[in-house]
Amino acid sequence: MTIPYPNHPAVPAFAEVEPSSGAARPRLAFLGTGYLGATYAICFAELGYEVLGFDVDEAKIAKLAAGQVPFHEAGLDELLRTNLAAGRLRFTTSYTEVADFADVHFICVGTPQRGDGMGADLSYVETSVTNLARHLTRRVLIVGKSTVPVGTAEWIEQLVAKHTDPELGIEVAWSPEFLQEGFAVEDVLRPNRIVVGVKSEWANGMLYAAHKGVFDLAATEDREVPLVVTDFATAELVKVAANAFLATKISFINAMAEVCEVAGGDVTQLARAIGYDPRIGNRFLQAGVGFGGGCLPKDIRAFQARAQELGAGEALRFLHEVDLINQRRRSKVLQLAAELLDRRSGPAGPDLSGTRIAVLGAAFKPNSDDVRDAPSLAVAAALAKAGADVHVYDPQGMENARVAQPALHYESSMAEAVTGAELVCVLTEWADFRNADPQALGELVAAKRVIDGRNCLDALLWARAGWEYRGMGRPAPAV
Ligand code: UDX
Repeated sequence: MTIPYPNHPAVPAFAEVEPSSGAARPRLAFLGTGYLGATYAICFAELGYEVLGFDVDEAKIAKLAAGQVPFHEAGLDELLRTNLAAGRLRFTTSYTEVADFADVHFICVGTPQRGDGMGADLSYVETSVTNLARHLTRRVLIVGKSTVPVGTAEWIEQLVAKHTDPELGIEVAWSPEFLQEGFAVEDVLRPNRIVVGVKSEWANGMLYAAHKGVFDLAATEDREVPLVVTDFATAELVKVAANAFLATKISFINAMAEVCEVAGGDVTQLARAIGYDPRIGNRFLQAGVGFGGGCLPKDIRAFQARAQELGAGEALRFLHEVDLINQRRRSKVLQLAAELLDRRSGPAGPDLSGTRIAVLGAAFKPNSDDVRDAPSLAVAAALAKAGADVHVYDPQGMENARVAQPALHYESSMAEAVTGAELVCVLTEWADFRNADPQALGELVAAKRVIDGRNCLDALLWARAGWEYRGMGRPAPAV
């Protein structure tokens, strides 16, 4: 018997699979309950699966088990609590328990940039797979989800072969994720595609069963979720290729901003105009202080390092340029600050000592508390290094920012941050900042100067309220 995939007659029928746990639907485990794993675990429980989340971090597991999401993600808290209460979702720090429980094990641990270079650190992947494999006693599928260098799935297969009894028939597959922070719940429940890299019909069928909840939800909403069934290497490459493309799109528009700055053009209008061409599209064309976060910066670096190892370094040389453009946009804010504050720049950059600057935004993007490689926080630190007295406010990212950059001053509101400032820098486009009243803020500052690092303010409105305004890649408004 086969399980047909209703919306994709072209996809080969999936072999029927019986979870070795004996459950009607495969039981799922997510190893690594950071941002990725916790979100997946909670959302798959919401889709009706029995789910176990595993992590070596006892504090994190205790928090999740008590109904608290350890990071900020819209809608996730409520789903965590309802699914814990429904008994479909549990958390553990025991490899024995996770190995006994699940039919499909998703590896969701972190793959940070290595301390000694641009490549990805796979030590967490190695530890979790090895320890899991040693505890397995029946046939299960191990599915990689973390973003990894191409070739990792084959390596995991070897690790699994080394640490398990071949008689058990344990297999490996790859299924990348494409979560955007702030939209992660939707991205899991209603993904714009599912990609699986498999080597056998059994693995294919198991993965289908593990995603049936997603396809069923789509069917009830009269939607389709495109499915790409492919080989290991392609599945691994899809993720880094997608992130490289997005990073390139952002750096492309930021390069246009640099040209606009010297030519007297306005990059926001340029982006709008080219974006009407459906081949280009208007998304990810927002010029500003550039991309940050836990994914794009490290992924383009790891991708270059891997291509180099494979002898295809030249193919990705442009990603180095993408990275440089991105870094230059951060420096541009310092340059604008020096200009506005009428300070000279020496070879070591501008001297901003004795100035008070408000930085609005610490998270790498709005609706997130994530400050990993955040352009806003990097700029705040650089302003402080140049001698400025920097006061930071962010609606969600304060706690993480304090840990990452303890030497800066943190204020508990936008009003407190801007009070007495000679310059205000808006570096994350939170709605609170976009909609701030320039008249009211003008009453609090020492001097009305603003750098709009995300081109998110109404330049004319601010200029009319008496502010000296500078955007990124656009001329100062003529009042
Ligand atoms: C990204 C990918 O979008 C996602 O598919 C992948 O799974 C993980 O990496 P995320 O890191 O959540 O997601 O952030 P994203 O929304 O892509 O933004 C990345 C950075 O680019 C942010 O710092 C954002 O401010 C910046 N950005 C985005 C721009 O500077 N301009 C734009 O037009 C869009």
